[in-house]
Amino acid sequence: MSGRGKWGSKVGFILAASGSAVGLGNIWRFPYTVSKNGGALFVLIYLIAVLFIAYPVLIAEVSLGRFSNKNPVGAFKSIKTKGKWKYVGYLGVLTGFMILSYYAVVAGWTVGYFFKALTGKFAKMNNEAATQAYTNFTSNSLLQIILFTAFILLTVYVVSRGVSSGIEKFSKILMPVLFGILLLLLIRSLTMQGASKGLEFYLKPDFSAFKPRVILEAMGQAFFSLSLGMGTMITYGSYVNKRENLPSATAWVAFFDTFIAFVAGLIIFPAVYAAGMQATSGGPGLVFQILPVIFAKMPGGVIFGSLFFLLLSIAALTSTISVLEVPVAFFIDEKKWNRKKSALTVGAITIIFGVPSALSQGGNSFFSKLPLVNKGFLDLWDIIWGNLSLSIGAFFVAIFVGYIWKTSNALLEITKGTEKFKLAFFWMISIKFVSPVLILLIFLGIIL
Ligand code: PHE
Repeated sequence: MSGRGKWGSKVGFILAASGSAVGLGNIWRFPYTVSKNGGALFVLIYLIAVLFIAYPVLIAEVSLGRFSNKNPVGAFKSIKTKGKWKYVGYLGVLTGFMILSYYAVVAGWTVGYFFKALTGKFAKMNNEAATQAYTNFTSNSLLQIILFTAFILLTVYVVSRGVSSGIEKFSKILMPVLFGILLLLLIRSLTMQGASKGLEFYLKPDFSAFKPRVILEAMGQAFFSLSLGMGTMITYGSYVNKRENLPSATAWVAFFDTFIAFVAGLIIFPAVYAAGMQATSGGPGLVFQILPVIFAKMPGGVIFGSLFFLLLSIAALTSTISVLEVPVAFFIDEKKWNRKKSALTVGAITIIFGVPSALSQGGNSFFSKLPLVNKGFLDLWDIIWGNLSLSIGAFFVAIFVGYIWKTSNALLEITKGTEKFKLAFFWMISIKFVSPVLILLIFLGIIL
């Protein structure tokens, strides 16, 4: 099959899948969603959602991909040739276009911030200056369009070079270095004055603040962060070798991803309080308004700041690659296009869809505050595609694997590279009952 490939090794898969999982979802979206949803209670529900809903769905997606050796549409079709299941795959392909369109905008911010950090713009920056700088930056329409278009083109370039030569290589060095800088930031943030109030907000749940919406947001965040519900992990699973141990590889991915998000929150909230800001008022700009303040108060801030935003741009890139890979694998497998044509076409369409998001943080007043919803276009798109659509997709993956493909068949695939899968029973119960029922209940709870 032209254009299809395989990961070089188990470590290759873990790195590539973690590369997909770890990105702006952990460092930008997680703290911002925690802030929006009132803090520690959200964090607690998030961790539960990862363990009981998202991790089982991750195993289901990767095994479905490896079994079928296909993109999401092909994967559903290869198990159930007739019926409407392929539409779940189509929804994933569409979601890929849409997520990429606004994700690349935020990724463009990380690139812009890399240059700002490098040229010393953050030196001595206090909170007001950082917020002002953010607003000036995001309302510069031309710059926004240039940055996000450049980011999509870069993604197109990497994806058109193919699976292991492109994606694997990028993921290899990045993670450990990014993690090292996160630890430095953590130390600096925790030792700031006022840090303990931030820790309290982040770690001490206030059960009286509970709303059903918090569960929906936590679950959506878990799917978003682990790249689930649109077929990314089906597609990445299709490049995994049969000899590899899926339970352990997927557990590593879920662990890395969750750990990094958790640490990101530990960095942001103490600093939010130290900067005298309100933790609950953070919008999509939260980390971009807070991180420069931490770097300004840190010895070697210019170096660490630029390195951090550079690495964050690369972490975003390894995620956008995996988002783009879904529609691209679809056109390669189902429409028999070549890789280059697929990547270029999808990239071009995404650029068009991305313009409203790029102009939605001040660049254009209509897109910055849409009538009726009273939100920016980027925020709205993130809720629709990054939360709801992924949750719907994950629901159908669980139903499909639990009842159509059947857990007994899935387990044969899951255990191919290993004799034991200790959590087999837990997994089966989650995929057949816990995940789908909870996703449904959460949806009903929001609608009713
Ligand atoms: N998981 C990625 C992140 O956290 C985003 C993503 C979502 C990637 C969906 C692929 C699919 O940044």
